[in-house]
Amino acid sequence: MHPKIWLSSPHMGGTELDFVNEAFQTNWIAPLGPNVNGFEQDLKTYLGHGVEVAALTSGTAALHLALILLGVGAGDEVICQSMTFSASANPIVYQGAQPVFVDSETDTWNMSPYWLEVAIKDRLSKGKKVKAIIPVHLYGMPAQMDQLTALSRQYGIPLIEDAAEGLGSRYKDRALGSFGDLAILSFNGNKIITTSGGGALVSANHGWIERARYLATQARDPAPHYQHSVIGYNYRMSNICAGIGRGQMQVLDERVTQRRARFDFYTDLFKNIPGIRFQPEVNGSYSNRWLTAILMDPSQTPSGLDRERLRLALEAVNIESRPLWKPMHLQPVFEGCPYYGEGISETFFEQGLCLPSGSNLQAHERERIAKTCLSALELTK
Ligand SMILES: Cc1ncc(COP(=O)(O)O)c(C=O)c1O
Repeated sequence: MHPKIWLSSPHMGGTELDFVNEAFQTNWIAPLGPNVNGFEQDLKTYLGHGVEVAALTSGTAALHLALILLGVGAGDEVICQSMTFSASANPIVYQGAQPVFVDSETDTWNMSPYWLEVAIKDRLSKGKKVKAIIPVHLYGMPAQMDQLTALSRQYGIPLIEDAAEGLGSRYKDRALGSFGDLAILSFNGNKIITTSGGGALVSANHGWIERARYLATQARDPAPHYQHSVIGYNYRMSNICAGIGRGQMQVLDERVTQRRARFDFYTDLFKNIPGIRFQPEVNGSYSNRWLTAILMDPSQTPSGLDRERLRLALEAVNIESRPLWKPMHLQPVFEGCPYYGEGISETFFEQGLCLPSGSNLQAHERERIAKTCLSALELTK
């Protein structure tokens, strides 16, 4: 059996253990300490635009706190991009609110500003309280932030930017994660940088971030005994994990360059092959290319190859690839939730495949991938 080639695996830079060792030496083995402060500072500096950052246990926890800060509760609605990972939508339900899903547009594959406005108007006309909008930067590709931000302002509905996959990407030369009223990041093991598991909440509203830190540490009131006046959560990042994060921040830009090189490898591999398309960079966007994703139209590809046959061909030789996210409005768990769109995300799901994109993919592994893809297409180069 061939050794496994992963879709996206952790890639340490080398200094992570220094920070972790320091935590051990100084006995800061807790969900607070110098690494947590240092990691937050690194992220603030990287994102710019006066943001404040709270390091948390996961991106999902960050989204949950974002919704709490916006006062989302039972009877409210939150509009969310349909084409995403379920963690973008789950916290809406944690809060007893109703997700409303919006389709993608063909340029960025992210939330369609057109369908967003249709959804807002229709929900408001039905007397619904729409409390937030959650666009996602799918596979690192910036969503149409100018148009989405303009709609958020026009209708007075706050934007929560799901930048879980977008750290290191830029839109009109501004870092993703610095646009929303609130934004979230993920440092899960498969992301462009990782803390093994972790996330962050970001906002230029420093009061919100201070409140998020309080809620994330069990909402302890200032008193010598344990006193609580609101429900709290155990969502703060550990000082050990934050140490990994500090090391990873030193190589973030290098990781973006490496991921973009993977994208170039695939565009070169599939150039001149009909029926295969990539996620384009449009309107001044610069993607971290966290994952390289393709759309395959079997009516045009050689030998009518579709994404499932290619996935199986890769799997047969122990290479991991993955269909694009199955849209949330098609998920059994979200059955019955309102959806606004024209089936773009459904086509993406049917035709889309994410290819191994790790920044640590070796040349011989890329060769194996190329050989397998071309033989599935019944081509040799
Ligand atoms: C788009 C998106 N949103 C949210 C999350 C949740 O992040 P986490 O796994 O850190 O909870 C992820 C990834 O895992 C994601 O890809």
